[in-house]
Amino acid sequence: MNQNMSRSQFLTFAASAGAASLLTSLESMVAVNDIKKIRVAIIGCGSVSNRYIPHLQSSPSIEIVSLCDIRHERAVAQNEQYNVKAATYADIDSLLKGVPFDMMVTLTDMQKHGELNKKALLSGKHVWSEKPMANTYAEGKALLELAKSKNLKLWGAPAVVNSPQFAFMSRCIQEGKLGRVASAHGQYGHTGPGWSSFFYEKNGGSMPDLGVYNMATLTGLLGPAKSVMAMLSIVNPERMIDEKGKIKVEEEDNAHILMDHDSGIISHVMCGFNFFDPHGHEAKGQQLHSIQIYGDKGNMRMIGYDWETNGVILDDSWEKPGQLHEKETGGYVWQEGATKVAESIVNKTEPLINVEHALHVLEIIEAARKSSASGMRIPLVSTFKWPVV
Ligand SMILES: NC(=O)c1ccc[n+]([C@@H]2O[C@H](COP(=O)([O-])OP(=O)(O)OC[C@H]3O[C@@H](n4cnc5c(N)ncnc54)[C@H](O)[C@@H]3O)[C@@H](O)[C@H]2O)c1
Repeated sequence: MNQNMSRSQFLTFAASAGAASLLTSLESMVAVNDIKKIRVAIIGCGSVSNRYIPHLQSSPSIEIVSLCDIRHERAVAQNEQYNVKAATYADIDSLLKGVPFDMMVTLTDMQKHGELNKKALLSGKHVWSEKPMANTYAEGKALLELAKSKNLKLWGAPAVVNSPQFAFMSRCIQEGKLGRVASAHGQYGHTGPGWSSFFYEKNGGSMPDLGVYNMATLTGLLGPAKSVMAMLSIVNPERMIDEKGKIKVEEEDNAHILMDHDSGIISHVMCGFNFFDPHGHEAKGQQLHSIQIYGDKGNMRMIGYDWETNGVILDDSWEKPGQLHEKETGGYVWQEGATKVAESIVNKTEPLINVEHALHVLEIIEAARKSSASGMRIPLVSTFKWPVV
């Protein structure tokens, strides 16, 4: 990690940044040198940055040194709202030339992640990317190869494998509590975001935004998928978006995906932007399950959504009713991914979140699109280290 600013970096930086941000940078570098903080830049200061910024700020090992958004006023507003004291930029090139940093956190429109992540890696930055880390599996794989060639770290959301509920379910499966596992199901949907059009544009859709959580959970629990079959549809061809009005929906807002894991296990994911749920986007207080796993000696149901779950019911007895386990979060929150991986760089530890897993999920999404378009079963080539827990 580059902790010091060289003279040439200083001159480049001084030429491209204002006096105010220069001061901020020098102050932050002192902090970096004193307490070994990792310097983070956030690109994309929209909705989800409201969850990321405070979480990153809560870590003593992290300093947010830059905020960037093509709508520069958003970077400025977030800087003020969260008292970040960061430099702000309106485009990635100025960000990369500006105040030095170690890791970029990518929170922009989904379609931009691949190109922005590539630029950051080429400039020697570690990257945490919101999902998806790229638009295609090939683009994602090339990013990983680039990262490896430069000895950099790359990660992709989600962070579902970090929850104690995921760990509990994984242990139950590994210990054989369910007997021979056969089938699983995951679902996630709501009535769709109204604040940005990218969710519905080409390379958007309900799979990379929502189904991605269930795909990560089910492959994380059951192992990498070997092939995929899917049916996708657009139920609502037009949407009303704040600031834009009526737009055309170009990617699936309704998706059913079948995954074939090892040993005959089949799982199913259902996701969409037309799912009424009175518990809302975050399923607060939801008592019903969104993930279920069946074996011949037991079954498990994860309550609420897998990214913010309220516990797991394990049914493994003819005599006594199913028991609720893991009601507490143990500190886990869905927006913790960037914080955990940044801390892992500082502490030189290996986090549970694994980029090959995110890449595998990206291949599943692409394969589901191919399967739906062709009516064929699509074999997968990617895999990842499993079991995760
Ligand atoms: N909003 C949520 O609750 C939520 C939750 C989990 C994950 N996510 C993911 O986070 C990402 C962002 O979602 P959001 O809801 O915050 O969207 P958003 O539209 O609110 O914010 C995206 C921001 O990125 C900026 N941007 C776009 N292109 C850019 C570029 N090239 N350079 C710099 N800035 C750019 C936009 O101006 C916008 O401010 C998506 O991948 C989404 O799937 C969102």
